Parts: sequence; structure tokens; C-alpha cells
Amino acid sequence: MEAHWRPEGYTVPNADVYPWQWLWDSCFHALIWAELDEPGRAATELRSALADQAPDGFVPHVRYRGDPSFLEDFWGRPATSSITQPPMYGHAVAELRRRGVDVPADVVAAAEAGLRFLLESRARQDGLVTVVHPWETGCDDSPRWDDWCAPSGWDLHRWYDVKGELLASVERSECGSPLANPAFAVAPAGFNALVAFNADELGLHAEAAALATALDRRWEPAGRTWVDGPHPSGRVRTVDGLLPALVSGGDRRADAFASLDDPRGFGGRFGPPAVHRGEPTFDPGSYWRGPCWPQLIYLLWRAGAPVGEGLVAGAEASGLAEYWEPDTGAGLGAVPQSWAGLALLAEGYPVGPGCH
Ligand code: GLC
Repeated sequence: MEAHWRPEGYTVPNADVYPWQWLWDSCFHALIWAELDEPGRAATELRSALADQAPDGFVPHVRYRGDPSFLEDFWGRPATSSITQPPMYGHAVAELRRRGVDVPADVVAAAEAGLRFLLESRARQDGLVTVVHPWETGCDDSPRWDDWCAPSGWDLHRWYDVKGELLASVERSECGSPLANPAFAVAPAGFNALVAFNADELGLHAEAAALATALDRRWEPAGRTWVDGPHPSGRVRTVDGLLPALVSGGDRRADAFASLDDPRGFGGRFGPPAVHRGEPTFDPGSYWRGPCWPQLIYLLWRAGAPVGEGLVAGAEASGLAEYWEPDTGAGLGAVPQSWAGLALLAEGYPVGPGCH
């Protein structure tokens, strides 16, 4: 964390692969700094993550101010990206406060405005909120998006082109905030769960409860998962499809967690893989299509799942990797990656605190 800290007030995910600031990464970094007894850096990182918020509340997901012009060409703006990421700032504010960290009022207000942007400007008739691009979920190459790679099914190179095409069709407000995308009108269960969880953490209880009720209709008992909609790839059993457990109590949560113990399901000594092992698309070495991701394991742990030991074992075995191979724990992607430090919060607590 020290080596990845930047004087501008944030931690890079990895100095070579991800040398700028990412929104949900920074929210997780704030938790890690708090765990490391660095309340100042925790609050500073949270503030910087929200610093380029638009007047309507939209928070961009990458801040690269002053860096290469190819990013400016790509995003069409000088300092930040033009889409968002899961609003983990609600949880970060609440968790820092629970730990006695002084979170300045303007940071709390910015977090609330960010949540309200999603709750209001992204609202759909079915009571859920939409994303405008797969990148907004943080789960970039998840098999849940495979239907958009049609007609021939998922292919890495084709998917790269599709992601670019999907960016071009985003509809924006006058100040450039992303509002909708007719070519990707998806309300993913995982993203909605994180909006509800973060809203609840910030005290927006009624809004969180309404989202949780809408998510109830997305429960799919046969697959023991929450689904993204009727389209086939939206039903693939992915670990983010279990995140509504953060806001849904009772039998469903128990059902959703049942496969976390199943070695042919989401079980494994290094934590749950991102894709259920029984899915034909499961690929243990492929970005977002099988490996374990520490931030998702942390979130399930928060929801009360017994995955703390897996998170710690995976972070250790992988050398604090961005993500790791589910059977061997071998590090994949960028190594070391700052968010692997979330394992510190789970150390000694095999079962997460739960939310109800
Ligand atoms: C990758 C991940 C995304 C993350 C970013 C920086 O793009 O898919 O979720 O925020 O890396 O770590």
C-alpha cells in the first residue's frame, strides 16, 4: 500500500498495469488504510475518489488527470473516464465511521449525491437501476455479457470491439453524465445489489428496501442465483449474482450460500471463483471467467458468508494478486494489486459480519 500510494492522495491498483485512480478500488483501499490504522489516508483516498463528481452527482470511474493523451482521446474528456463503477463509497463512508474515522461532511454529501444519481437518473420501470456499459459493473468480461458478443458466442477479440461499440452508444446529459444505453439496457443483479447495499449504508433505507424488493423478482430458485433478466447469458451462475445476499435475508441467502461449500460449485480453499464450476463457460485461468476476485469475496464475506479463510489463503498464495486461479491460488493479472489487502479485514474472521 505504501509503494502504491501517490502524493495526490490515492493508491494505484498496480503501479505498472493500473497507474491511475479507479473508483471502486479506491473505496476498498480506504477500508484497507483504516484497517492499517491510517485514518488520514483512508479519508483522503475516499475524498479523491469523489473529487471529479459532476454537478448531477455522476462519479467517473477512472481519474487520469495529466496523463497520456490516448486516454483523453479514448474517453473524450481531459481528466476522467465517462462511465461509473459500483458505488462502494456508501459502504466506505459507513465503515470508516464505524471505525471512528472522521469522514468530512462534504465527502458524505458527495457519496449521497453519487448514490442519488444512480437511484434517480438510472431508474427503470421495474424498480431497478440500469448500467450503461459492462465496465460499470467492474466485472468486465463476465459470461453474463456473452449475449452481446453474438452471433458466434464469446470471443476475446470480438468482445474488445463490442466494448468500444457499446461505449459509443451511451446517451448523456448536457454535462456529459452517462444516463442510458439503448444497446446495453441491462440492470444487473450484482450492480443493483451494490447500489442497494451502499444506499442502506448511507442511511437511504427506503430506497435500499425498494431496490431489494425489485431484486426479489430476480431470484431464480433452480440455479440458486439472482439473474440479470430473461436473456440467456444473464442467468449464468456468477459470483456477483450472489451479491443480493447483501440486502436479502432469510432462506434465499442460505440457498445462495449453499454452493459456496460445494467443490463442484463455488467452493474451494482460495475462495469462491467468479463463475460456478458447473457452467460450460467456467475457465479457471481466464479474466473474469473463472478466477477468484478478492473484492467480490470480501463483499460476500460482508454479507455473512464463510469465505474469510479463502480470501486470506488466496491473497497469500497469489502474492496479493489482482485475481487468482481458484484451484492453486496462483496469482493472475497484476501482482501485487492493492485490493488484495482486503484480506486483512477478514483475517481471523472466517465468517463475515452479515448485514441483518
Ligand atoms: C479491471 C477490473 C476493474 C478494476 C480495474 C482496476 O479493469 O475489471 O473492476 O476496477 O481493473 O483494478
